[in-house]
Amino acid sequence: MVERLRARGDEVVVLARSEGVDLVAGNGLDAALAGCDVVIDVTSVVAKKPEEYVAFFGAVARNLQAAGAVAGVRRIITLSIVGIDGLGGAAFAHYEGKNAQEAATEAGPVPTVILRATQFHGFAGQLIDWVAKAGVLPCPKQPVQTVDVDAVADELVALAGAEFEGDRVRVDIAGPEKQLLADLVRRTAQARGQKLRVLPVWLPGEAGRKVRGGALQAPPGALIAGGTFDEWLAREYAGTD
Ligand SMILES: NC(=O)c1ccc[n+]([C@@H]2O[C@H](COP(=O)([O-])OP(=O)(O)OC[C@H]3O[C@@H](n4cnc5c(N)ncnc54)[C@H](OP(=O)(O)O)[C@@H]3O)[C@@H](O)[C@H]2O)c1
Repeated sequence: MVERLRARGDEVVVLARSEGVDLVAGNGLDAALAGCDVVIDVTSVVAKKPEEYVAFFGAVARNLQAAGAVAGVRRIITLSIVGIDGLGGAAFAHYEGKNAQEAATEAGPVPTVILRATQFHGFAGQLIDWVAKAGVLPCPKQPVQTVDVDAVADELVALAGAEFEGDRVRVDIAGPEKQLLADLVRRTAQARGQKLRVLPVWLPGEAGRKVRGGALQAPPGALIAGGTFDEWLAREYAGTD
């Protein structure tokens, strides 16, 4: 996203801890946002405790709204996830955090766009890295409609340059194919040359039923964008034995 923005001539300030800005603490944020026109929030966290997700995403969204208003930012664009608001209650801690982020973003004074994306093609690999132990991955039995992260970056960049009528805009984006997550996990492991046993698990409760029924796939009216999972996989792992 940063590369794309710079290539089209925009001046970009990166707000990340690796660049000296902690969006939870908010230190250095006012100075960093001075003169900024648009903020794009693509922060994320892998937390140890479930409650840390709401704390993290809520704090980042509130801090960006408060500092954005002081700096005269025209719009905040927040990357979120398709279908997470319909799952109910504390179904999944990460999604609860994202719901808190959406709510805090839209509660602030600066106009917003929320871009809700389906899981990225690389999500299967992230799941392996986060959850697999001793060559075994418990993998939820669920359909997905993953999207190429490059298409999401393109859309964020397009949104950053667009004009909107309303102050609260929401857009959904998804990839072209409906597939099973376990299948993507197996193909990712194979492309990586990684030995992995995939253990199908049922997500519990009402939220699990909704996810199995396709709640995380493209809703009607979603923008369908980017290449297929196999095209991405071939590109991502080109040259891997
Ligand atoms: N992965 C998916 O399949 C998927 C699908 C749909 C939507 N999304 C959304 O896409 C976004 C990015 O996800 P990702 O998986 O690509 O995340 P990621 O690679 O883990 O990137 C997270 C970013 O957040 C920054 N960050 C973390 N804590 C910070 C802090 N306290 N202050 C400032 N910056 C901080 C990190 O930079 P530093 O470490 O340098 O701080 C990093 O640049 C998330 O909002 C996620 O919900 C992801």
